[in-house]
Amino acid sequence: MTNLIDSFDRQIDYMRISVTDRCDLRCIYCAASSFQNQSHENTLRYEEIARVVEAAATLGVTKIRLTGGEPLARLHLDRLVAMLVSIPGIEEISMTTNGTLLTKYAAELKAAGLKRVNISLDSLKPDKFAYITGSDKLNEVLHSIDVANDIGLVPVKINTVILKGINDDEITDFARKTITDCWNVRFIEHMPFAGAKKQDNDLVSSQEIMDIISKKYGELQPHHSHIGNGPAKYFKLPGANGTVGFIGAVTECFCSECNRFRLTSDGKLRPCLLDDDEVDIREAVRRGASIEELAKIIQSAASVKRAQHSLDSGSKPSVRSMRQIGG
Ligand code: 5AD
Ligand code: SF4
Repeated sequence: MTNLIDSFDRQIDYMRISVTDRCDLRCIYCAASSFQNQSHENTLRYEEIARVVEAAATLGVTKIRLTGGEPLARLHLDRLVAMLVSIPGIEEISMTTNGTLLTKYAAELKAAGLKRVNISLDSLKPDKFAYITGSDKLNEVLHSIDVANDIGLVPVKINTVILKGINDDEITDFARKTITDCWNVRFIEHMPFAGAKKQDNDLVSSQEIMDIISKKYGELQPHHSHIGNGPAKYFKLPGANGTVGFIGAVTECFCSECNRFRLTSDGKLRPCLLDDDEVDIREAVRRGASIEELAKIIQSAASVKRAQHSLDSGSKPSVRSMRQIGG
């Protein structure tokens, strides 16, 4: 097996796939209300996604994450999971979801071979949740967390984006959940994105969040045994069974350890979340290109992967919103 190695000697074994740019929520930091969904014709079909994954697997990609948009906004996602599970070399399929529909689909996704889920949740208060997401589905999301745990889509991780002046008063409430409900909460630094309603700089850094938590609950103990593919650093609070994680997407550059690339819902390989360079693979898939040719295209995308992003110098990706790229 050849390996997928980029120009900076990083081994790429993890592919994130945005299966749709549709979503039933409208998070303020994600898409503006004027967001136009792409047509079904432009969206990769499940067979087409599976073909790209088959090619990626020949290069040593072993881990897949399904994202969106909201992946469960697409019907019969369990069929895609089952198709990907059967591809030789693919070892683990996980999903990032907003949780609103997960209760309904958790059992069939688990049966199809999905391993685990990350659930996005930025507020535990109904009015705040509604303000951030434009929806009143907080109870559905909370319930889906229990269902995912019961069904064994574990470890369930909760992704929380803290925005200054909006939900920073809930940092300790989320941290407390790691003690009272055994949650694994990950605080993700807000990244300014094109096409979002919210463009201003309202960053609360991982360090600030850590300081707020340890002031209230005592020192955070580093915790290493957590399953993860990426940049989160995990800790435990005294007396907690769950973990708190921090993804310093803006203040900490973890690009040198990057192991991933993305496939957008319209069939572009995107080597870096924060860089607008993309390589089209849909055209090749649709004209019936061989696995070898698709693998070459994937390799060419890896070779244009940059050394690191330039968020800290104030630039932001301009063309796409998070929903098309896959958060
Ligand atoms: N900054 C940080 N995280 C974001 N997410 C979506 N948009 C942003 C952004 N601009 C998160 C979601 C979800 C994950 C897929 O990405 O909250 O947890
Ligand atoms: Fe939907 Fe996720 Fe975007 Fe929120 S952040 S609108 S849940 S895609």
